[in-house]
Amino acid sequence: MFNHVKPIPPDPILGVITAHAADPNPRKIDLGVGVYRDGHGATPILSCVARAEQLLLDSQTTKTYLGPAGVPGFNEAINELLFGSGSEALAEGRVRTIQTPGGTGALRLAADLIHAAAPEAELWASDPTWSNHYALFPAAGVTMHKYPYFDWQSSGLSFDEMVSALEQRGPGDVVLFHACCHNPCGVSPSPEQWAAIADVAAGRGFTPLIDIAYMGFERGQAEDCLPVRLLSERCPEVIVASSCSKNFAMYRERVGALSVIARDAKNAAAIETVINSITRANYSMPPSHGPAVIDIILHSDELRALWDEELTGMRERINGVRKTLAEKIAASGIGRDFSFLARQSGMFSFLGINREQIHRLRSKYSIYLVDSSRINVASFNDANMDYFVAALEDVIGG
Ligand code: LMR
Repeated sequence: MFNHVKPIPPDPILGVITAHAADPNPRKIDLGVGVYRDGHGATPILSCVARAEQLLLDSQTTKTYLGPAGVPGFNEAINELLFGSGSEALAEGRVRTIQTPGGTGALRLAADLIHAAAPEAELWASDPTWSNHYALFPAAGVTMHKYPYFDWQSSGLSFDEMVSALEQRGPGDVVLFHACCHNPCGVSPSPEQWAAIADVAAGRGFTPLIDIAYMGFERGQAEDCLPVRLLSERCPEVIVASSCSKNFAMYRERVGALSVIARDAKNAAAIETVINSITRANYSMPPSHGPAVIDIILHSDELRALWDEELTGMRERINGVRKTLAEKIAASGIGRDFSFLARQSGMFSFLGINREQIHRLRSKYSIYLVDSSRINVASFNDANMDYFVAALEDVIGG
């Protein structure tokens, strides 16, 4: 059966992790995978998570199955985070939220649901988008197209071109949005631009699919949900794939959620049955640990406040790193303008350097980034930033 299997190249992001891990250079820097790192280069367990895990260990009495929807308190808390307690869609019983194995699990479940509900539906994603989107949707049978998004000239948003492209979409089409901290380019629409995008979505009748993997890393937890709330107020059907990997630093525990807003409560109940049949045929029953921990945090005033504080700390560190990096590059002999690093948000930005320069950073300095020139700015700290700036100056010249 496997005689004719040919090896395929590793995923671009995962390939960088492996190459970096194998490099013995003590000065090496991993600017690849999107994992938050503190000022010491570590990815610690949040204190709110450690405390909730202890509470869970002390109180759990069984490991029996949870049932298809998983931890009810988690699903309910995610609804509140995403849509806000005043959400009309929630009050009208039009929302179904189900825990998933990470944000990627939510996206794959969304893709399977789209394909099951409307096999002809096609999806439009920003150009560029997260590399795994290109693998995930076609794997579920959903054809992908691009709409303009990132302007390489200004390192900003091609807003007019984006809106013109969205105005060509209509019922039966799915349009994928990054709610905040765009992966890979770090550029987001302003609140006013989001309102205009929501009007286009409502007017044209396409179905928004919102990927919110970095909630809280751009402007704040509730602020980063603005597109989710605007689109769900104005559009009858919305799909949201959310992740707790970054904002709760729960990476390996794989915690995420799929939320679907339906036209009415009856339709929502029917969609729930389709979701349950997809997950049953896929992994049968969901895991408990990660969602149970987040359920505890979000239902405790004290732990919730601690989470807010820790999330704010991560966001502020990233913004501080962006500012310092832009300043250090401006003060170096590098003749190019990198001030966009301070204007963009979240963990990712494109450096905008070419393949040859990327490969020289790797071979000469053990600085690892993906070939698109995306960097994870959270990997910088006081101990490695000057080394990076000097290496960048060497590979791109003054
Ligand atoms: C990234 O883009 O680096 C993260 O979302 C992690 C991953 O799985 O790719």
